[in-house]
Amino acid sequence: MIFIFSVLITFSFFGFGQADLCQYNFTLADLNRSVIIEIISFINGYTAASYLPIDETYIRFWLYTRTSVSGTRLNSIRPAVTVRKTILLIHGWSCNITNDLMPELKAAYLKRYNANIIIVDWSYYAAKNYGETFRYIPSIGNAIAKFLMRLNGLGIFINAIHLVGHSMGAQVSAFTGQSLINNYGKTLYRITGLDPGGPIYSNKPSNERLDETDAFFVDVIHTNGGFFGYLNKCGDVDYYPNCGTFQNGCTFSLTNGTFVDFIVQKIACDHLRSVSYMIESINYNNFKAKKSVLLNQLFCYGDGSDISYMGEDSILKYSKTDYVLNTNPNLCQYNFTLADLNRSVIIEIISLISGYTAGSYLPIDESYIRFWLYTRTSVSGTRLNSIRPAVTVRKTILLIHGWSCNITNDLMLELKAAYLKRYNANIIIVDWSYYAAKNYGETFRYIPSIGNAIAKFLMRLNGLGIFINAIHLVGHSMGAQVSAFTGQSLINNYGKTLYRITGLDPGGPIYSNKPSNERLDETDAFFVDVIHTNGGFLGYLNKCGDVDYYPNCGTFQNGCTSSLTNGTFVDFIVQKIACDHLRSVSYMIESINYNNFKAKKRVLLNQLLCYGDGSDISYMGEDSIFKYSKTNYVLYTNPSSPYSQG
Ligand SMILES: *[C@@H]1O[C@H](CO)[C@@H](O)[C@H](O)[C@H]1NC(C)=O
Ligand SMILES: *[C@@H]1O[C@H](CO)[C@@H](O)[C@H](O)[C@H]1NC(C)=O
Ligand SMILES: *[C@@H]1O[C@H](CO)[C@@H](O)[C@H](O)[C@H]1NC(C)=O
Ligand SMILES: *[C@@H]1O[C@H](CO)[C@@H](O)[C@H](O)[C@H]1NC(C)=O
Ligand SMILES: *[C@@H]1O[C@H](CO)[C@@H](O)[C@H](O)[C@H]1NC(C)=O
Ligand SMILES: *[C@@H]1O[C@H](CO)[C@@H](O)[C@H](O)[C@H]1NC(C)=O
Ligand SMILES: *[C@@H]1O[C@H](CO)[C@@H](O)[C@H](O)[C@H]1NC(C)=O
Ligand SMILES: *[C@@H]1O[C@H](CO)[C@@H](O)[C@H](O)[C@H]1NC(C)=O
Repeated sequence: MIFIFSVLITFSFFGFGQADLCQYNFTLADLNRSVIIEIISFINGYTAASYLPIDETYIRFWLYTRTSVSGTRLNSIRPAVTVRKTILLIHGWSCNITNDLMPELKAAYLKRYNANIIIVDWSYYAAKNYGETFRYIPSIGNAIAKFLMRLNGLGIFINAIHLVGHSMGAQVSAFTGQSLINNYGKTLYRITGLDPGGPIYSNKPSNERLDETDAFFVDVIHTNGGFFGYLNKCGDVDYYPNCGTFQNGCTFSLTNGTFVDFIVQKIACDHLRSVSYMIESINYNNFKAKKSVLLNQLFCYGDGSDISYMGEDSILKYSKTDYVLNTNPNLCQYNFTLADLNRSVIIEIISLISGYTAGSYLPIDESYIRFWLYTRTSVSGTRLNSIRPAVTVRKTILLIHGWSCNITNDLMLELKAAYLKRYNANIIIVDWSYYAAKNYGETFRYIPSIGNAIAKFLMRLNGLGIFINAIHLVGHSMGAQVSAFTGQSLINNYGKTLYRITGLDPGGPIYSNKPSNERLDETDAFFVDVIHTNGGFLGYLNKCGDVDYYPNCGTFQNGCTSSLTNGTFVDFIVQKIACDHLRSVSYMIESINYNNFKAKKRVLLNQLLCYGDGSDISYMGEDSIFKYSKTNYVLYTNPSSPYSQG
């Protein structure tokens, strides 16, 4: 599903009300569902029609100076301005001059410079649906170029004018620059592209989008590349804060709502953050940036040998730096390669978005469900005979891998090792890879039968003296849903209840619409604890245990970034969320070794942020059972091991 979004995000959407993209504080009620429909049509291959002419009277210019801070509307045919440093600000799609942080940007510039700050109001065309707005952009650029030539007639040199455009406003700036060059033989001083619009533009040649030829100097700040923003290098110098797609602090936390609600909330914040960064750089520039280098497929880092300051002062010192990166996904291990991507998965996800309805549940061939026993004296494991298992009576923990994975990846071996280090126990890894390797929607149909097969096996262990009510199941992803059906089968068919199920980012796709008896919930064992690390994407978002932990608010994890120069949106998002999803297992492993995952009761600040209320503390992971309330907890983590912050 996840992947879906990546794609989605590429899109164009219908105004989901000007509200969402143009200001920080969204409410779920602001969301316009028609947006989603457009996005879906976009995924299936949106092609915008030809460019259109505009009525230039709808393009308006507002002048702000230190002596006229509230602004005066210029006559665009006979503008009256004082000759001095001139900066034009151009808002984004679906926005206008009073939002998109335009007033704040203007104020910062006036504080720094005694200049003409002109905000371009093109809201009449910006308010149309994205694909339609797209068709007017070149004409809007022409209209602005014409206006600038009139300023030029008053003595303001074109080669001293700076355009600062956000989102599609950066693309408007590009066409303005091109029009000045092509129609008047003049070149702008500078264009600053603040997360330039990506949807549709991502497939356009450089003369139909922002690029380094559009002004003497083009600097770009990418904050949501691959989603709302253009991902690849498109300026003389390009800055990728936090690797360019997801911004620190842009989280969200909805208790209900769809995937789309979630993603829109998150990426709208990421996208707008480019403007906030620009404002801060005008006031006080401490955005020291390093040449970007890719560490591996999930991380980029800075090479300190080449330093530049992002934002207003970038022109003072920079290299024409290229950012080279690779991509790679696979849900079961950290280091993906692009070659690992199975495109059929993506197609399935897209169909999922459009309302996937899985077929009915199916029976399985139980001989494909295998059990591997690991103990302190048999660390490399022996396969159990599932009909006549031979085990020593002692503490018993079953580990259940996720969809598309098997017992040698998905961090199962690491999880097993951590348990054996801590307990002299039977650690049994369930191998259901035969069914896990099918496509998601098909795997889904086998899950209840797999749960039954495991329940049957556990009853055989029970016959050997291992009490069901002392068995702990730890399942990742769809493996957590397998655990749920195992627990339900034991209750319904044998009148026995498991001691505990730990759900590590339980599978979300399809399950998110299921009633509690068809997915993990608190009734499936005496104690059910859940760690949500990619809720709303690969993981189940809502509370589904006795106690639910939402590290970093539960959807995106610290350290899970993605930074690709090429590859599709899907590549991008898969890389990111596969890491988020698997992180739940890493946290569990750390908690077994050393538990410092102090969590606080989760409180929602607004739709974008959650915080912890220190009056109720619990420790996430292996020891959660010792102290908890039946509630949701939040905690923050480090980007790499050790993850816990105490
Ligand atoms: C959503 O936005 C579209 C386009 O702006 C509009 O036509 C439609 O009426 C809106 N729907 C709702 C429910 O607000
Ligand atoms: C800009 O959009 C906001 C939110 O949609 C609206 O409240 C405001 O009146 C608009 N401002 C102008 C000048 O059109
Ligand atoms: C968002 O809402 C919070 C709480 O209502 C408020 O303190 C904050 O100033 C708002 N932020 C913006 C950018 O409007
Ligand atoms: C969440 O769902 C509840 C009950 O269905 C509803 O009252 C509430 O408005 C929803 N919240 C949001 C943010 O949509
Ligand atoms: C990126 O594009 C280049 C050139 O088109 C290609 O050689 C390279 O394999 C691509 N990298 C990935 C990760 O797809
Ligand atoms: C990923 O690859 C890097 C570099 O090749 C390696 O150092 C690291 O251990 C790998 N991580 C995992 C989890 O395999
Ligand atoms: C598990 O999957 C990986 C990667 O797909 C594969 O290399 C490995 O052989 C598989 N292991 C088993 C035991 O099937
Ligand atoms: C992708 O996975 C599906 C389902 O497992 C499989 O049928 C298909 O052959 C795979 N395609 C490729 C190109 O590996």
